[in-house]
Amino acid sequence: MMEEKKTPKKQEVFRYEQIAGDVIQLIEQGTYRSGERIPSVRQMSQQQGASISSVLQAYLLLENRGLIEVRPQSGYYVRAAPIDNLPEPEISSPGLDPNHVNLHDLMMMAMRDSLNPGLVQLGAAMPNLELLPTERINRIMAGLARTASKGTHRYELPPGLEELRVQIARHAVNSGCQLSPNEIVITSGGVEGIDLCLHAVCNPGDIVAIESPMYFGTLQILEVHGLRALEIPTNPRDGISLEALQFAIEHNPIKAVLTISNFNNPLGSCIPDEKKKELVELLARYDIPLIDNDVSGEIYFTEKRPWVTKAYDKKGLVMLCSSFSKDISPSLRVGWVAPGRHKNTVEWLKFTTSVATATLPQMAIAQFLESGGYDHQLRRIRREYASNVALLSQAVTRNFPAGTRVTRPSGGFVLWVQLPETVDSLELYALALKNSITITPGYLFSPTNQFYNFIRLNAAAWTYPIERAVRRLGELVVELAGKNAV
Ligand SMILES: Cc1ncc(COP(=O)(O)O)c(C=O)c1O
Repeated sequence: MMEEKKTPKKQEVFRYEQIAGDVIQLIEQGTYRSGERIPSVRQMSQQQGASISSVLQAYLLLENRGLIEVRPQSGYYVRAAPIDNLPEPEISSPGLDPNHVNLHDLMMMAMRDSLNPGLVQLGAAMPNLELLPTERINRIMAGLARTASKGTHRYELPPGLEELRVQIARHAVNSGCQLSPNEIVITSGGVEGIDLCLHAVCNPGDIVAIESPMYFGTLQILEVHGLRALEIPTNPRDGISLEALQFAIEHNPIKAVLTISNFNNPLGSCIPDEKKKELVELLARYDIPLIDNDVSGEIYFTEKRPWVTKAYDKKGLVMLCSSFSKDISPSLRVGWVAPGRHKNTVEWLKFTTSVATATLPQMAIAQFLESGGYDHQLRRIRREYASNVALLSQAVTRNFPAGTRVTRPSGGFVLWVQLPETVDSLELYALALKNSITITPGYLFSPTNQFYNFIRLNAAAWTYPIERAVRRLGELVVELAGKNAV
């Protein structure tokens, strides 16, 4: 037998994960099709120069993910493909008037339930903690605490740590952006960045055009600032309708437009790059700022990273917001904004709101980016999330009743599920909670009740308890659909 290849350090991909990744690729490219036998453990161990136990572990992982199945005395087989994909939800059709947001009670309820460790968490869009580079970041922070000790305790006043801004600017080249570190302001997470941008360009009572549905964290900011949301029809594939947006602009004094152009949460939509350009040009004609939240832009399942709207910004009107919460750690609270022509105002508001973002997390993330660890991390999570999203989608397809629709995102890790019209997502929420499961009800993603029969599911992790929970959820939907149809 060939010699076992070197085992990577712990924070890197384990050998069995590499083997599992290779098998996934072979399945995805059609080398092994559904129902076909894959190489035996012994054959794979020889092919890969890996130990029997690494291959066994890899096969167990694939089995747990529902990709292969073991047939006693026969071997391992690619699991039969699920029934046809469910249809996707159609483009949203909100009303034409702006509305105040009033979601805080619902939001607090969902937040409290998301903290309960006794529940299977399908609701909150938390990244999979197993996939975060926690040990690596902790080691970097311990090293910094030793070597830079006093430096870690100084204020890093706005615009924030220069080394980090340099790293962010270098990384932004991948998204089509030629940013200078001087154009960037570090924030305490992505939501703070959006808050600062809205505060910089709007006054209470102003109208903000938003993609519909929209991430509830952003709707909360509109609520707190007394802003009115004008929901624009948004397609689950290619995002906000430019025709509808132009119509809205011509009929309302819109002060800002809010998008998640890459992998809208919850919709999963991604505005194609050419359409992003048109969007930026449209807003440039009316001199309206675009606040674009790119928090999941790095988690793409396609060949190439989709660009950011900022790549097309000639007038400094795009305020690009992002954070490291989805791919490094939500708890470090490090995000950033490239606010274009409103940079000075955003910097001042950052200073008046929270003075500075904590220094040690900024230093740690800068070092992580510089070391190349971030690129490695992103490659890993893209693969894992693509697989987990597919697995959750297949489970919804298998377990939910006729009339269900589900999105097919090409990035991020959430699914937006449209339930039969007789199912109310808050009724389902209560029922699911009794079964120790959380979901996010569609009500949270709009100031009107247009998504009463939608739910958002988090696809970041795929485990047996989650698979069981999705099955149970499907039964509950069937139960509610039947009961309410009577
Ligand atoms: C679209 C979107 N924006 C922002 C955030 C939060 O970002 P942060 O934790 O960096 O404030 C989330 C988290 O779920 C999100 O889904």
